[in-house]
Amino acid sequence: MAFDLVFFGGTGDLVWRKLMPALFQAFRHGTLPDAGRIIGVGRDDLSDEQYRQQIQSRFEQVEGDKRPKPEEFARFASLLCYVRMDLSQPAAYAALASRLAERETDHVVMYLSTAPSLFTTVCEQLAASGLNTPKTRIVLEKPLGHDLASNRAINHAVGLAFKEQQVFRIDHYLGKPAVQNLFAMRFGNALFEPLWRREHIANIQITMSEELGVEKRGGFYETTGALRDMVQNHALQLLCAIAMEPPINAHADAIRDEKLKVLRALKRWTPETLSQHVIRGQYSAGNIEGKAVPGYREERGVDPQSSTETFVALRTEIANWRWAGVPFYIRTGKRMASREAHIDINFRPTPHEIFKSPVGQVNKLVIHLQPKDGLELHLFAQGQSKRGQGNGTLSPVHLDLDFDKRFGSERVGAYERLLLDVLDGRLNLFVRSDEQEEAWRWVEPILQHWQGDTNGPRPYAAGTWGPSAASAMIARDGFCWSEEN
Ligand code: BG6
Repeated sequence: MAFDLVFFGGTGDLVWRKLMPALFQAFRHGTLPDAGRIIGVGRDDLSDEQYRQQIQSRFEQVEGDKRPKPEEFARFASLLCYVRMDLSQPAAYAALASRLAERETDHVVMYLSTAPSLFTTVCEQLAASGLNTPKTRIVLEKPLGHDLASNRAINHAVGLAFKEQQVFRIDHYLGKPAVQNLFAMRFGNALFEPLWRREHIANIQITMSEELGVEKRGGFYETTGALRDMVQNHALQLLCAIAMEPPINAHADAIRDEKLKVLRALKRWTPETLSQHVIRGQYSAGNIEGKAVPGYREERGVDPQSSTETFVALRTEIANWRWAGVPFYIRTGKRMASREAHIDINFRPTPHEIFKSPVGQVNKLVIHLQPKDGLELHLFAQGQSKRGQGNGTLSPVHLDLDFDKRFGSERVGAYERLLLDVLDGRLNLFVRSDEQEEAWRWVEPILQHWQGDTNGPRPYAAGTWGPSAASAMIARDGFCWSEEN
């Protein structure tokens, strides 16, 4: 399959940090279709050769085994070329058109790894230059807007140039192997389905914590914050994957229809739930792995009076037959105690106790996304006393499935998976416009509530699990966060 893959923003951070290394891994694994060309587009004046050298020097920062050996890079580099373009100038698109016209391809992928403010212009100009042919696919990186109206405006402009089936909205969390395994676990096994409902599940927790701060992205983060950066997209996509009904088949629209129903069933906010079930925090100076780190307001590009949240914890419910009354807790933040992402499904206690269970513990299924990738099922067992008799007290035990160990080198990273899916035209792991709009519709009242709330975010010391109010919120329901158990 001959393809041209065009990276708008071809000299940008995402391209050399994530996209090129992912393509290189696919190339190394022999899964990148043959006869491909990767075209970087940027404002710098570079020849093809200079672009290759730039990517090569960036690859030197790739860790360990993933770094290409010189002869491997030389073969990969033959796929790379470069077109200089100022994306705001209509005349510049002719240069791209003539480069694309050099050869016949089956597909052309336009990957917009640029500032979102350029999305509309680029789509309009691609259409005006006749580059929106039926064989074109367009990939959009987040953030797609900063609220519902701006998201709809982008989707509208994209929709004028491309059909929905040509549009690949990336949420890299959907490319993580653990998320695909969540679908496999739920819809490829009969075991959990009967338990996957309000009768058996007490609460569900989604945790996505990072140790890193905002790094060099202070300016961007100031206008974004954790709710837009992580909750509107990644957290809600995970929530959909857990809560959706089994789709009628594995086609993209069957899956996306079910996810959309979950988003539509999320409980609407009220003034009461907005003030009691949403906690925002901002990190202050603290310690990460024994090293002192500055507070958010001291970071480069950040307003010293900033009220941008770097942490969010919230509680919601899904108003349908399967989930009515089951709290779903979402928690995400920067500069937290550790970097981890997992989903904890906490089951209800036994209806009638004849053994002594460890206090406060319940059966639970933990879906680990990172750094570990696997499943843990927490159960109770009867330990034997020294005299060979059970003493009636149960001990916690767990079944531990480590997917990295089991599948090892067959595993592919999120961007590698998603890029291969774009090249194959598989939309299953991409977000449809109506899903995205529904997610914005749900987070928007929170943004509005914060605008009118002069209290601002609650401080938490870097290296901790966030403001204590987040623990108090969940404790009011009689539960606690996974690490407090
Ligand atoms: C991105 C956010 O979407 O996800 C970043 O913009 C965040 O702020 C990142 O750090 C986290 O991704 P991962 O895969 O490292 O958990």
